[in-house]
Amino acid sequence: MTAYPVDLTVRPDVEAFFDPATNTISYIVKDPGSDACAIVDSVMDIDYAAGRITYEHADRMIARVQERGLRLDWIIETHVHADHLSAAPYIQERLGGRIGIGAKIRVVQDTFGKVFNEGTEFQRDGSQFDALFEDGDTYMIGGMRAFAMDTPGHTPACMVHVMGDAAFVGDTLFMPDGGSARADFPGGDAGQLYDSIQKVLALPDETRLFMCHDYGPNGRDIQWETTVGEEKAHNIHVGRDRTKEEFVAFRTERDAQLAMPRLIIPSLQVNMRAGEVPTDKDGRPMLKVPLNGL
Ligand SMILES: [Fe+2]
Repeated sequence: MTAYPVDLTVRPDVEAFFDPATNTISYIVKDPGSDACAIVDSVMDIDYAAGRITYEHADRMIARVQERGLRLDWIIETHVHADHLSAAPYIQERLGGRIGIGAKIRVVQDTFGKVFNEGTEFQRDGSQFDALFEDGDTYMIGGMRAFAMDTPGHTPACMVHVMGDAAFVGDTLFMPDGGSARADFPGGDAGQLYDSIQKVLALPDETRLFMCHDYGPNGRDIQWETTVGEEKAHNIHVGRDRTKEEFVAFRTERDAQLAMPRLIIPSLQVNMRAGEVPTDKDGRPMLKVPLNGL
C-alpha cells in the first residue's frame, strides 16, 4: 500500500442526505473521537423555471448537525458541480466551518468567467473560498486527519477527499453499475479521468467510497456507498482490466451523446463563487444565460 498522510483505519460516522431533484448525495462526516464534523457537497434547492431558490435540503442537514450537537469544521466541495447549486455559504452562516475546494478552481473560474462574461469584480483567484487544497494537503476534522487528492478529468478542479477509511469521490466514479462521470465539460479530459480513477482504486480495497450522484440504473433503488474492492471488481467502465485506451474511446463516444445537465447554467455561476448567488449592478440576485456559449 502507498503511504497516505492519514490514518486509514479511523472510521468516521457518515450520514447521507439524498436530493431527489438532482440525484445528489450530501454527507455529514463525523470524527469518531470528537463532536467535530464536515459537510461534503451540500445542495441549494432551485426552481429554475420560477427563478426561485430555497433551502429545504440544507435545512435538513443543519437541523441534524444541531440535533446531534456537532461542531462543523469544514464545508467541502469535491468540485464545481454542474448539476446542482451549493448551499455552502448558507450553511456556514448558520453553523460556521470553513469552505474548501481544490486550488485548481482558478482554472475553472478563468474558463467560466469568460463563458459568463464576468466583469473584473469576479475574482479568478479562488478567494471566495476559505481554503484551496493542493494535491495531498491535509486538514483536521476534530482529531481526524483528512486529505485531498487531485483527481482531474471530469473537471480540472476535482478532488477526492479521504477522511479515515471513507473517501468522497465526487464525480470521479459512480456506483459499479453506473460507471463513471462524463469528461466533456470545458477543461474535462477522459484520459485524465482514467488516471484519476486509478488513484482512487489504489486505495486499500476495504476503503468505503461515497458517491456524489446516483441515478439508479436499470431501475434499482438509489445507492451511494461501495468499496474500492467492489469498484475494482465490478465497475462497468473501469473495472477489471479495462485499458485506458478503451476507456477514453468509450467515454468520448458516450459523452458526445449526452445532453447538458438541466441546471448547468445556474450551477456554474453560483458554484464558481463558492455558493454565493451573483448580483446585478443594483445588488439584486441575478443569473445570466449566455446563448450558444457552452
Ligand atoms: Fe459534477
